[in-house]
Amino acid sequence: MAQQEDVFKKIVAHAKEYGFVFPSSEIYDGLSAVYDYGQNGVELKNNIKRYWWEAMTLLHENIVGIDSAIFMHPTIWKASGHVDAFNDPLIDNRDSKKRYRADVLIEDHIARLDEKIDKEVAKAAKRFGDSFDEALFRQTNPRVAEVAAHREAVHTRFAEAMNAGDLDGLRQIIIDEEIVDPVSGTRNWTEVRQFNLMFRTEMGSTSEGAMTVYLRPETAQGIFVNYLNVQKTGRMRIPFGIAQIGKAFRNEIVARQFIFRMREFEQMEMQFFVRPGDEMKWFAYWKEWRLRWHKALGLGDEKYRYHDHEKLAHYANAATDIEFQMPFGFKEVEGIHSRTDFDLSQHEKFSGKKIQYFDPELNKSYTPYVIETSIGVDRMFLSVLCSSYEEQALEGGDSRVVLHLPAALAPVKCAVMPLVRKDGLPEKAREIVDDLKFDFSTHYDEKDSIGKRYRRQDAIGTPYCITVDHQTLEDGTVTLRERDTMQQTRVAVADLHRLIHSSVSLNSLLRKLK
Ligand code: GAP
Repeated sequence: MAQQEDVFKKIVAHAKEYGFVFPSSEIYDGLSAVYDYGQNGVELKNNIKRYWWEAMTLLHENIVGIDSAIFMHPTIWKASGHVDAFNDPLIDNRDSKKRYRADVLIEDHIARLDEKIDKEVAKAAKRFGDSFDEALFRQTNPRVAEVAAHREAVHTRFAEAMNAGDLDGLRQIIIDEEIVDPVSGTRNWTEVRQFNLMFRTEMGSTSEGAMTVYLRPETAQGIFVNYLNVQKTGRMRIPFGIAQIGKAFRNEIVARQFIFRMREFEQMEMQFFVRPGDEMKWFAYWKEWRLRWHKALGLGDEKYRYHDHEKLAHYANAATDIEFQMPFGFKEVEGIHSRTDFDLSQHEKFSGKKIQYFDPELNKSYTPYVIETSIGVDRMFLSVLCSSYEEQALEGGDSRVVLHLPAALAPVKCAVMPLVRKDGLPEKAREIVDDLKFDFSTHYDEKDSIGKRYRRQDAIGTPYCITVDHQTLEDGTVTLRERDTMQQTRVAVADLHRLIHSSVSLNSLLRKLK
């Protein structure tokens, strides 16, 4: 675990050093849980968004996109339930003056109990070697059984308190389990209070005062309130979907793990409108299809798992998360929810407008049911970055840091390098750049030794390096170096486009989803 934490620290440092992610407002000492994307980060992020957008809208003829405003009428958030129920339970430590999420303190405590069990198991596995039966050991070892029973009891109390919205119950678990503040080390806790996660601001200024508006905490509501507009103007027939990519804002109490939990982030959401009664079929479809989208990137099938929700929000009748193995454990990257007709019905009620669909096949009107797929761009970015990062020992005692980014997502697709800065090689290299740049993001690099230049490109995940040497001038061939294998082949300049295109194009990635 500690080793994984070290790797994660290195990934965060690498992201900054190579222009992927910078802390926001850094020269003013930063702004907590807000980040900026640098010159390479923005390209990687845009490629992730393009992959999602095109997979959704190009490959599904019944899905269209929109781009709704961040500001919306405040009643929307009353109707959606966010004003009343988009809360986290928070608790303060009187000594450190730090604020925590009560549920996170308890979850961390449960994780520590799990770690205790895992340590015992690891110790025993070492002692018994090949003859070790882990399942039997977990069942029969008294120390493990004791901790496991305790863990279960805490977990049950925690789930009950969360389900009932019992704030005193949460506090009592913190007291009974003697959970201490990681900063002050004391147990001097305040009461637990609900804290609404929406950011508020004022819009306009009239003699009656300004109107309080919210920064949207999800993009989905912009889709729901445009359902009628899109259905009517696009003559959409159910089943159909509306997709959107955009910023969302949440005043997270505990912001941690770099860009995993941010206060300003981006979502890619799609609401799929279906006939009531058909929702489970479509829920199953989207659950499978979205995982396929992830796996097509080739980051490793074993790094994904579903987490089906046992406790459902009052408006949902099925929900699952797609979790990805981050250096800090399996974490949610995407949620797939069957949201019934809750949102459209609520907007019908609060707006007084009829929001229904006339189904010509059934010859009747109804409020459509909705399957939602919702993925965080930043979390997706983090999963791609973490699984691509490798510190590689090379022959001869050398080493390199390489990002094995899926080629279609890489910020730079190829770098063209003259072997030396003379003899007409830079001019020839520029000629190649000037041709390739119309199709691929192409870098020209002539500084430092060729080895250093390769390392720089490896560190930002560039799939191909093209070296122009004296032979190029004679026979029109160059060296094409592949990032992961570091293999170099001699190829004709005229073949470069074809060779590179087949592996870096978004098109070839999308075709895997057929
Ligand atoms: N419309 C449904 C919805 O917003 P959610 O599970 O709250 O559901 C969906 O969020 C996705 O948005 C998450 O799976 C995650 O990838 C991303 N997300 C949520 N909160 C985030 C945060 N504070 N920072 C970064 N990404 C976040």
